[in-house]
Amino acid sequence: MIVAATREELVAARKDLRGRVAVVMTMGALHDGHAELVRHARRHADAVIVTIFVNPLQFGAGEDLDRYPRTLESDLAILDAEGADVVFTPTPDVVYPTEPLVRVSAGALGDVFEGASRPGHFDGVLTVVLKLMHLTQPDVALFGQKDAQQLAAIRRMVSDLDVPVSVVAVPTVREPDGLALSSRNRYLTEEQRRTALVLARALAARDVAAGRALFDAEPGADLDYLERVDSRTFEAAPDGDLIVVAARVGSTRLIDNLPLDEKAP
Ligand code: PAF
Repeated sequence: MIVAATREELVAARKDLRGRVAVVMTMGALHDGHAELVRHARRHADAVIVTIFVNPLQFGAGEDLDRYPRTLESDLAILDAEGADVVFTPTPDVVYPTEPLVRVSAGALGDVFEGASRPGHFDGVLTVVLKLMHLTQPDVALFGQKDAQQLAAIRRMVSDLDVPVSVVAVPTVREPDGLALSSRNRYLTEEQRRTALVLARALAARDVAAGRALFDAEPGADLDYLERVDSRTFEAAPDGDLIVVAARVGSTRLIDNLPLDEKAP
């Protein structure tokens, strides 16, 4: 496994990859959900590049950019074990050598749900995803279903801007009790972790009113939204194919979702 920290090292490593290339983009603090992305990537391509970059552009003022977990050594051990070929670990000045004046806009998709609570977040995500696609030159890019709105925005960017990359969604990985894996779960105390199960329970109800009632009975979780939406546009729709939820448990914001053609968590 080659670890590339600079653009030059990445270009040299990319040149040696043969056949179809997949990219898995991450912000590090890897867990089994990321490992699953790498495993899926292996099925879609001959070689796998993983990027580890905590992208400042997608964090708002007062969000957890500074305390976002950084665990490079254990991340590299996980990726080595999963058989990644190249890991790109740039610093912010490598990705943004100059202030990024021109950015990708997520349009209306960036203003609702996660975008309403985190203004500019999806513009920051799309800008770095497009840059990392240009830098890694993949045939296919894999993203977790867990970040359903991010997935929708990336699919729309790839389609609207004719980016020659196939986007593949990978189902959410959950703990046995239903909690969706997330790098932010490590912020939770044991009691908060128990409280956080209300997100999965509310989704399992498959009904927005019943799910909201579960939150009413759980004072430790502060519900932001629980809504049925169209998974491509993120417009609220009573017959939408996806239920999305976001809530704050302590100071940790958690999101989850359930595609309605899937088994409940
Ligand atoms: O999902 C994430 O970890 C990030 O939003 C991504 C796609 C790596 C962009 O920074």
